[in-house]
Amino acid sequence: MKSKISQYLYNYSNLLVYVMFSIFITMICCSVMLLGCADTSEKKIKIGLSISSLRVERWPKDRDIFVEEAEKLGAEVIVQSADNDARKQNEQAENMITQGVDILVVIPQDSVAAAQIVKAAHAEGIKVIAYDRLIRESEPDLYISFDNERVGYLQAEYLIRHKPKGNYFLLGGDPGDNNAQLLRKGQLRALQQAIDNGDIQFVAEQKHWAVDWDPLDALNKTEQVLTQTNNQIDAVVASNDGTAGGVIQALEGQNLDGKVLVSGQDADIAACQRIVKGTQTMTVYKSIKQLAKEAAHAAVTLAKGETVQKANQTVNNGVTDVPSILLTPIQVDKDNLDEVVIKDGFHTREKVYQTE
Ligand code: BGC
Repeated sequence: MKSKISQYLYNYSNLLVYVMFSIFITMICCSVMLLGCADTSEKKIKIGLSISSLRVERWPKDRDIFVEEAEKLGAEVIVQSADNDARKQNEQAENMITQGVDILVVIPQDSVAAAQIVKAAHAEGIKVIAYDRLIRESEPDLYISFDNERVGYLQAEYLIRHKPKGNYFLLGGDPGDNNAQLLRKGQLRALQQAIDNGDIQFVAEQKHWAVDWDPLDALNKTEQVLTQTNNQIDAVVASNDGTAGGVIQALEGQNLDGKVLVSGQDADIAACQRIVKGTQTMTVYKSIKQLAKEAAHAAVTLAKGETVQKANQTVNNGVTDVPSILLTPIQVDKDNLDEVVIKDGFHTREKVYQTE
């Protein structure tokens, strides 16, 4: 009898150990599963970066700094470039939405056509940041750029200060780019007084714009205007450095380089070298590092559903007041090239002065 009881107890304790062990294993499994769940809720933020084109020198820099900063913040970035094709850009953006991006950052090729991107993204609950260029006819969640009207003002203000009288040629950027319009507005503001006084005249009747900001188009249009005016041009308000390059090439053809004032923006390396050489008069420096980093932070913040504190102003895009961050551009000529562009690490001294 006694041995039966001890046998029973022995079996019972074995069973108990077995049950305890099973509970322990189940608990471990559950914790692992729970941890797994926690992981998905903190999954990597996926950002879609849609770039109109990478042809102008600055854009690969914007891309690289943006991606690096976003990755530092724990996000991953899918990048697509649309080769100056607005329709292609819309398709690429749709595709990124399908790939499950949490937020889209768009440098629009066309400020109006890109409204489609904002609408498609919003339909899926995805927010959109207009990067460098505003998107119109829609309600983007944030606009981050420089004060582009001020960029235009700084370009023309510099030229009019150094050439208060004469024949001016205004060469805009791509007409579909909202920035091109803002630049023109700022340029005209700087020149208004001189226009009213009759101190300056515009040489070309029709308004000139360089399609896709193409330097070759800028070259052709400047050649036309030089022919029309019998080379009577004193200053060219070129809207960026790429197009300034085309203008200066046309001027070289008539031995006018260095004699006609030419503006620009972006501090492209070729433009900095031309400023040193004296064939381009000035450029406008915009810190790409600052813009791209701020944008990466804003993208992660918005993707988390939080508010971007730095967006403390708004810009009206025709439909709504878009929360905006507008950074400050700086006028640059040969006298402050070192102080502004080189000191900020944008280009090396050796490259700018071509001493390497
Ligand atoms: C940008 C300029 C750039 C131009 C051509 C503009 O929207 O603000 O920095 O040079 O596009 O890409």
